[in-house]
Amino acid sequence: MELRASGATVYQFEGGEPYMHTSEFIKEGMVRALAENKTCYAPSSGIPELRSAIAEKVRNRNQIPASTQDVIVLNGGMQGLFGAFQSAVNPDEEVLVFSPYWTPIKDLIAHCQGKAVLVPTVEARERGFGPTLDRYANERTRAIYFNTPQNPTGLVFTADEARAVAAFAQERNLIVVADEAYEDLVYEGEHFSIASLPGMFERSITVFTLSKSYAMTGWRIGYTVATEPWMTGLRKTTLYSSNGVSTPTQWAGVVALSTSQDVLEKNVRAYRKRRDLLLDGLNELGLHCERPAGAFYAFPDVTRINSNSREAAEILLERAQVATVPGIVFGEHGEGHLRFSFSTSLETIEAGLDSLRRNL
Ligand SMILES: Cc1ncc(COP(=O)(O)O)c(C=O)c1O
Repeated sequence: MELRASGATVYQFEGGEPYMHTSEFIKEGMVRALAENKTCYAPSSGIPELRSAIAEKVRNRNQIPASTQDVIVLNGGMQGLFGAFQSAVNPDEEVLVFSPYWTPIKDLIAHCQGKAVLVPTVEARERGFGPTLDRYANERTRAIYFNTPQNPTGLVFTADEARAVAAFAQERNLIVVADEAYEDLVYEGEHFSIASLPGMFERSITVFTLSKSYAMTGWRIGYTVATEPWMTGLRKTTLYSSNGVSTPTQWAGVVALSTSQDVLEKNVRAYRKRRDLLLDGLNELGLHCERPAGAFYAFPDVTRINSNSREAAEILLERAQVATVPGIVFGEHGEGHLRFSFSTSLETIEAGLDSLRRNL
C-alpha cells in the first residue's frame, strides 16, 4: 500500500477474492427486492424461499440429504465457521486441522477456548489419512476441520480421502466442520462433500458461501448446513449477533443460486487459464509449485529466495513490486512458501511474471 501510494506499480497477487464483478442479473435481483419493499426484518435463519432453494441445491449438487430446516443463511462462510465451532467445541477440547490452513481457523477455535492441533496434509497424503489423524488425536479431540478446495494450497481432497477422514470421524465419534467455500472452483477431479457419505450428514457442519462462486464477497452472504444439535448452536450465535442477513441481499441470493451451470463452467475455464499461466511462469523461475487442483491460489516453494517466507515476500515486493502473502501466515507448515492468487487479469499475471524474470 505504501509503494502504491508512492506512485509505484505493484503487481498484486495477495488478494483472496474473485477478480470479476457480481453479475448484473444478481444486482438486478436486489434492485427488484428494494423496489418491492422487501426491506423488513426477515426470519433470523433466512427467508424460506432462499432456504428451500439452498436445500435443493445441496441435495442435487452436493448429494447432502438436507431439508429446509437443516439450512441457515449467514453473513458469509466466516459466520458459518464461527457458529460451527461455537456449537461444536467446548473449552479444552481439540480440533484436528489439516495444515497449512486458512488463517482465521486457529482463532475461531481459540475463541471457544479450544485448541487447534495441526495435522500436516503432506504427511496425511504420504502415510495415509487414518494413521496420520490417529497420531494427532487423543481423548480431548472433538472435531476435524476439513477444507476442500483448500486455501492456501489449492489442494482438493479426493473422494477416497474424504472417505478415510469420515471413517476416522465415525470411529472416534468426532464432528466434521467442512469448509467448502471454493466448491465451484475445481480444475482437476471433482468437488466432493464429506457430508454426502453414509452416516456423515448427522456429524457434519458444512459451510458454504456465495462469495467465491458468484463474486459476491462484499455482499456478506453464505449458508451452513447441519442437523441438530449443531443447528441450534448456529441459530443462537446468529440470533444474538447479526440476527440474520439483510433482506434484499437474501433476495439477490435467490437469484444468484439460479446461475446456470454454463456460467459457472465458463468461470472455471477463465480461472484455469490464469492458473496455467501463473504456474508455468513460477516453475520456469525455479519457484517449484504443484499445480493447484482448485480455489485460486498457487503456493510455491520459495526457499531458493529465502527460507523465511516473510523475508521472501519482502524481497519480491522490493525487487519486483510483486505482492504476495507469506506462507507462515497459514501456520508453520506454510513456511518456505508464498501464496499467489491467480484471481486477477491475465495482463497482471504476465506483467508480474515479467517483473520477477527481470528482477529476481
Ligand atoms: C477457506 C475459506 N473459508 C471461508 C472463507 C469465508 O469467506 P466469506 O466469509 O467471504 O464467505 C474464505 C474466504 O477467504 C476462505 O478462504
